[in-house]
Parts: sequence; C-alpha cells; structure tokens
Amino acid sequence: MIIAPSLLAADCTRLGKEAERAGRSGADWLHLDIMDGHFVPNISFGPAIVAAVRPRAKKLFFDVHLMCSKPEILLEPFVEAGADEIIVHVELGDRVAPLLWKIRSLGRKVGLAVNPLTSIGKVQSFLDKIDLLLVMTVNPGYGGQSFIHECLPKIQQADAWRRERTLSYRLAVDGGINYSTVAECAHAGADTFVAGTALFRQPNLRAAVQKMRKIAHANDPALADLKV
Ligand code: DX5
Ligand code: ZN
Repeated sequence: MIIAPSLLAADCTRLGKEAERAGRSGADWLHLDIMDGHFVPNISFGPAIVAAVRPRAKKLFFDVHLMCSKPEILLEPFVEAGADEIIVHVELGDRVAPLLWKIRSLGRKVGLAVNPLTSIGKVQSFLDKIDLLLVMTVNPGYGGQSFIHECLPKIQQADAWRRERTLSYRLAVDGGINYSTVAECAHAGADTFVAGTALFRQPNLRAAVQKMRKIAHANDPALADLKV
C-alpha cells in the first residue's frame, strides 16, 4: 500500500516546510498536481517549485500528475526538477502512446490517468506499457471535492484486468480520499492512495498517514472511526 499526500493541499506560503513535514510523516510518495489553466480550469505550480522542494524530501518518491494540454513540452523540465514518475491523461487521445514512450525513454516511471467521465475501456490498450493507472475519483482541477462513488466499478475493472493479464501496474485513486473512501477503494482493488485535504490539513500528518495506511491495509470501513 502506498500513501501519497498531495502537495496541492499544503500551506502554500511554506511549501518547503510542508515537503519536510511529508518527508517525516512515514508517507511513501509526494504527489504533485500540475494544472495548466487549460486542461483543467485551475493553475497550480510548475517545475521550479518541484525542483525547490525536491531536496526537502529526499526519501520520497516524486509522483508528478500532469493535468496539462501540452505535456510534450513539460516532460524534460519535470524530469530535471526531480520527478520519479510522470502521469499523463488518457483524454489526450492519439498523443498518449508517444507520451508514454517518451516518459519511459527519459528513465522515469510511467503513469496514465483517467477522468471520472471517461470510460475505463480507453486505458485498456495501454495497460502493458504503464507502471501506474490513476483512476480519478473527482473531476480534476481542485482539491477538497467529494469522492464520486460511481468511479468504484472502474477500480474493480482495472484490478480484474491486472489479474487476468498478469500485469503489475499500481492501481491508484486520486480525489476525495479520506478515512472512509480509502477503505472503499482498497476493497475495490486500489493499492495507491493520493490524498490532499484529508492528510495535509491534519496538524499531525504522521498520525494521519499511519491511520490511512492502517485502514487501507485492513480494508475495513469500520476502522474509519478510529481516532487519530
Ligand atoms: C485533483 C488532484 C488531486 C487533489 C486531491 O485535481 O488531482 O490530486 O490534490 O485533493 P483532495 O484529496 O483534497 O481531494
Ligand atoms: Zn493528482
């Protein structure tokens, strides 16, 4: 089970300190949401911020999620900034295959994301080319939105394909993940959990990560009532 706090929900006046806090929290990854104001109706941060926080959390795996219309021009800058994995969206259509190939050729892990309104069938032909499939459980663009329960069957389907085809991509969920929805997603087959608001907004991030991990492992919604 991988727990990946999303820096989008951190205190943006002190991103360096927040990255350090994530580094000390027992989390495995730091998730970095890159929004370009075109693919999604919001703007977040770019390679300079990722490069600046990279040395503050040396042990964390940097998971860069590109919600961008032109990822082609951003792959090299994010690799140089310290990305360990780069995720692009399947909604980019014909451009997906060359993008996945390019990320691989840059020596980074390859991720593919699918929006709530996009059929899960669209990812099927790429499953043997990726290290991670990110099932979006909110419409991308903002942190703090409510989990869309209708996405759960997509997780089950992606998990079934993984077993049927003996593939080993990670199955990640992103958006509205909290102590209750993490259990539902784990039950559906997810093994990688991106959470912004539910983790960074807790004063004790370490305890919050530990609790989320425990619930994901136990795969039992009843544990969601545990006190942090
Ligand atoms: C949504 C982003 C998410 C976001 C999740 O557009 O891709 O990674 O940070 O935030 P929460 O956990 O607050 O829904
Ligand atoms: Zn994300």
